[in-house]
Amino acid sequence: MNVLVIGSGGREHALCWKLAASPILTSLYCAPGNGGIADEAECIALDVGDHGAVIAFCKERKIDLVVVGPEEPLVKGMVDSLEAEGIRAFGPSAAASQLEASKGFTKDLCRRHDIPTGAYERFTEAEAARAYVRAQGAPIVVKADGLAAGKGVTVAMTEYEAIAAIDEAFGGRFGDAGAEIVVEEFLEGEEASFFVLTDGKTVLPLATAQDHKPVGDGDTGPNTGGMGAYSPAPVMTDAMCRRALKEIVEPTVNGLASEGMPFRGILYAGLMITAEGPKLIEYNIRFGDPECQVLMVRMKSDLLLAILACMDGVLEKFDLRWYDDPAMVVVMAAQGYPGTVEKGSEIRGLADAWAVDGVTVFHAGTKRDGDRVLANGGRVLGVTASGASVTEAQKRAYSAVDRIDWPEGFCRRDIGWRAVEREAKT
Ligand code: AMP
Ligand code: GLY
Repeated sequence: MNVLVIGSGGREHALCWKLAASPILTSLYCAPGNGGIADEAECIALDVGDHGAVIAFCKERKIDLVVVGPEEPLVKGMVDSLEAEGIRAFGPSAAASQLEASKGFTKDLCRRHDIPTGAYERFTEAEAARAYVRAQGAPIVVKADGLAAGKGVTVAMTEYEAIAAIDEAFGGRFGDAGAEIVVEEFLEGEEASFFVLTDGKTVLPLATAQDHKPVGDGDTGPNTGGMGAYSPAPVMTDAMCRRALKEIVEPTVNGLASEGMPFRGILYAGLMITAEGPKLIEYNIRFGDPECQVLMVRMKSDLLLAILACMDGVLEKFDLRWYDDPAMVVVMAAQGYPGTVEKGSEIRGLADAWAVDGVTVFHAGTKRDGDRVLANGGRVLGVTASGASVTEAQKRAYSAVDRIDWPEGFCRRDIGWRAVEREAKT
């Protein structure tokens, strides 16, 4: 099979690495790709916002399957455009992608189908939103409705902060994404991510993960796309996974199907495990980044076969195998991230890092310059390790990090701390 992956981050490197191991793969392409992906796939400088260009490429190279990594092309209808031309594409339609593209859409779906989530209201003007905050009191959460690159959420500990967030959103800080907002109940508990593969009928649980969004050690500082992650998430016991599946994910998949928007692809549920049980924080319509990196090293089965079973609507007969060993990814970012960063610094020592037992180094934002690897983004590398315990995976990941010679980069030194603390107690 000839496969094209769309995207350029660490998630897409992990997907390409896993797809490249499939015995049924003939050629693998990635558009636009990055310096590490180039080891697994032929990188193609396509403008992926131009659906016509992607379609033309697929026809010319006889692409049998397109795998779309990031949310933006999914929300913009990449899968719909490809399928209209008879090109098979893995990922949800634009209609089903509203699960990530509109927080209000998801909350209303939860309300219609009785899915546990925080109480909320939607607003299109500031005064009514302010009045709601005053009536509910703090803590309370204010969210831009649309895609805001992870920056559209304010967890407000005071009414003052909530009102400032409302005024910012309606003041245009998030552009169109903030023209509507959701004001939502503050949920208390431990967060976990739950990933499933679904063909719109059958839901196949993948694995769980926990990520670290704040940039600094001890979960401090501004939020990022994710500075690291580990899988499985200890809070997601088998019983909790079953509840999340029955109470949240299955009613969502069935609800969307019954409303004429079947969801086919990867569904990523962000959950809060509260005293009353799992509640939905948000949905993403794709693999998480960097969570995908740990899921791919833990997946024993052939990802390409799993995707094909999903495309054929026969997941009900499919079974996925996983390695029991936990895995961890430590993100190395360019200094300044999540603010502005300089590009072009050289990264050395990558081969030494790969040589550490159980370690795979995924590239998130790099480019090649001959034999040299240069930083080319905010998040630059995802140093991934598996081990018999999270503690061992952590040791291996940081020993690989320490072999990477890149003074212009940094990472958190405490990825996995919750799970490591738990392991120390048992
Ligand atoms: P989101 O982009 O919706 O995942 O929100 C970003 C982060 O804000 C989440 O990972 C949570 O840590 C936090 N958050 C979002 N909604 C809530 C909520 N209702 N209660 C508590 N924390 C929340
Ligand atoms: N790591 C969070 C995300 O991919 O949205």
